[in-house]
Amino acid sequence: MATIRDVAKLAGVSVATVSRVINKNGYVNKETEQKVTRAIEHLRYEPNAVARGLAGKQTGTIALVLPDISNPFFPEVARAVEDMAQSHGYTVILCNSDDQGSKEKLYIEVLKKKYIDGIIFASNTLEQDDVERLGKVPLVVLDRAPMSNICSVIRSKNQEGAKLAVKHLQEVGCKKIAHIYGPQELVTAKKRLSGYEEAVKEFSWFSPSLMVPGFFRIDGGLRAVQELMSKHPDVDGIFAGNDLMAIGAIKGLNRMGIRVPKDVAVCGFDGIGLTEVTEPELTTIAQPIYDMGALATRVLIEKIVTGTEEIKLYELDVTLVQRDSTRRVNER
Ligand code: RIB
Repeated sequence: MATIRDVAKLAGVSVATVSRVINKNGYVNKETEQKVTRAIEHLRYEPNAVARGLAGKQTGTIALVLPDISNPFFPEVARAVEDMAQSHGYTVILCNSDDQGSKEKLYIEVLKKKYIDGIIFASNTLEQDDVERLGKVPLVVLDRAPMSNICSVIRSKNQEGAKLAVKHLQEVGCKKIAHIYGPQELVTAKKRLSGYEEAVKEFSWFSPSLMVPGFFRIDGGLRAVQELMSKHPDVDGIFAGNDLMAIGAIKGLNRMGIRVPKDVAVCGFDGIGLTEVTEPELTTIAQPIYDMGALATRVLIEKIVTGTEEIKLYELDVTLVQRDSTRRVNER
């Protein structure tokens, strides 16, 4: 592979002159410029992106830091980010932080060295000093956002979504609705729990023990449903804080011989593709996952290109997608 030195040698000029031609900074006379361009073409020289970053130019690379790549919600986000980035001429570097602040800090250091043009973070652990460490690197936060007023945040209407789930379960005839909630350090899970609580707190059947902790994975839902049904065998509707937990809940109910949706109707949250694969297919409160990823990318690129940004909170609408897990015979 040809280097900048090879180009300089063939063109009979200095490396600094080649660099000036590539980066279009500083004066180079027409004749020299042509010699350099011809040498570049002849050697098929491709300027290194990091070298461009070192020269203060953009590298055409953005990073996407996700908390859990094994949860289908996040690859679906990544799909959108990549599509949108590519259509604007950017490449995406994907990092999985396992929701660990220490890993995120490490990535920040590594990514800075790669002279990336901007970062999209789906992070719960991002702290003020991380943002400071990023310096001038443009940043957008997606879905999970511990802080506000530092950069734009794109997420969906989590609280409204929870209320929509409760309303739907009531409309299909459920008389006692429980909630399996996600980790409360996550703003998304917290908002869904408070939405549920607001929607049910005035009903005589409500008791705080109908809110059972889970974590955003299938086994989280499976364990929580066992605990829930042992305490409240008369529950007939479950709103799970994400689709994976809802899938786990259906699995647990099946194991206990409880029929879905006849005995217990189940509604999830997210709208991942997997909801169409389960038996019964899962009713869910769908976040506009693709739109969230695409919007985050557009906002970031605008910030990269213009160097300015109006700090905004974008809260996107959620929709109910009804499937068989809540389609009951006695549906009103
Ligand atoms: O399923 C993963 C969950 O974590 C999603 O609901 C998303 O909103 C996030 O916070």
